[in-house]
Amino acid sequence: MKNQIRVLLVGCGAISRTWLISALKEKEINIAGLVDINRSAAEKKAEEFKLTNAFVGTNFKEALRKTKPDAVFNCTVPEAHYEITMLALKEGCHVLVEKPLADSMDHARKMVRQAEKTGKILAVIQNRRYYNYIRGVEKFLSSGKIGGLTTINSEFYIGAHFGGFRDKMKHVLLLDMAIHTFDMARFLTHTDPVTVYCHEWNPFSSWYNHGACANAIFEMTGGIVYTYLGSWCAEGLNTTWTGRWRFIGEKGSALWDGMEKFEAQKTTGRTGFIRKTRNIAISFSERKEENEGHRGLIREFIHCIKTDKKPLTSADDNIKSLAMVLGAIESSRKKRPVRIKL
Ligand SMILES: NC(=O)c1ccc[n+]([C@@H]2O[C@H](COP(=O)([O-])OP(=O)(O)OC[C@H]3O[C@@H](n4cnc5c(N)ncnc54)[C@H](O)[C@@H]3O)[C@@H](O)[C@H]2O)c1
Repeated sequence: MKNQIRVLLVGCGAISRTWLISALKEKEINIAGLVDINRSAAEKKAEEFKLTNAFVGTNFKEALRKTKPDAVFNCTVPEAHYEITMLALKEGCHVLVEKPLADSMDHARKMVRQAEKTGKILAVIQNRRYYNYIRGVEKFLSSGKIGGLTTINSEFYIGAHFGGFRDKMKHVLLLDMAIHTFDMARFLTHTDPVTVYCHEWNPFSSWYNHGACANAIFEMTGGIVYTYLGSWCAEGLNTTWTGRWRFIGEKGSALWDGMEKFEAQKTTGRTGFIRKTRNIAISFSERKEENEGHRGLIREFIHCIKTDKKPLTSADDNIKSLAMVLGAIESSRKKRPVRIKL
């Protein structure tokens, strides 16, 4: 494989800045073009990042033809992920798409099948998996220090005033945000979803049009129960963006604030009404900026293109996190628990 990977970035809105900051630090990436249905958005990014030789336009098909990219970075809004990704795959490009993979399971399955058919990589920016705190907690839980997991709770409470597409979108918390938290639950516990019972609502105080709050109970493989409580219109006492977590294992429990604050206790005694416990510590690895978040994921994606490997957030696995989101929406609509179709 040649040294530089030619990349066409589509969707030049807010998150594209994070992508460009990361991508332009990598010598192996050449940003060949910028596309947005809003020309001035693409022009502004070209100017801001001094991409004087890059193609700038509004027509994705024309940009594909003119730039002949190896890969497409799809930073468009969720409803456009399917169309852009399918076109890119059909033109023989690898695709890295922003979360959520797609706006429906039907679209997501077709995207995964198309990637398989063309032998191209289709991966999703599920950037939480690329933070040292999350990796540290995953390692701690896998070490068995608190025994096999039985129960997980996560709370997400943020009063986020975005403006823009989120204010109007349906199921805003579940579709645009909970995908991060649900994917974390899968990553941290190495389990997949089986069933879900969810209640989604939009409180009278909400500044969103639809679904700013949701509570969901998932049954995961191995009989683990995962409970999610979330609100995107909770003013005050906010959690971190990664959420506040409790893990219960057969020999102890752990509490985590989603960042560096972590505490755990394991039982030492075998008798007594409440068993004796001792504290156990966690060790987080040193943070390396180049491996964190979007940058870590983009680097891995490029490495996988060059070495023919599969990224951690490959769409054929990430579709299971999307299934948790869409299963929760279905359960809330039907007002009963539903089996999650993978
Ligand atoms: N991973 C994260 O932490 C994270 C954070 C923020 C946003 N996101 C995701 O990134 C995506 C974009 O979010 P944003 O906040 O940048 O939105 P945004 O509205 O600021 O930008 C989206 C851009 O896409 C363009 N666009 C829409 N349809 C298009 C199409 N068919 N072709 C070309 N351009 C098109 C719009 O004109 C706009 O400029 C969403 O899927 C969102 O969920 C992820």
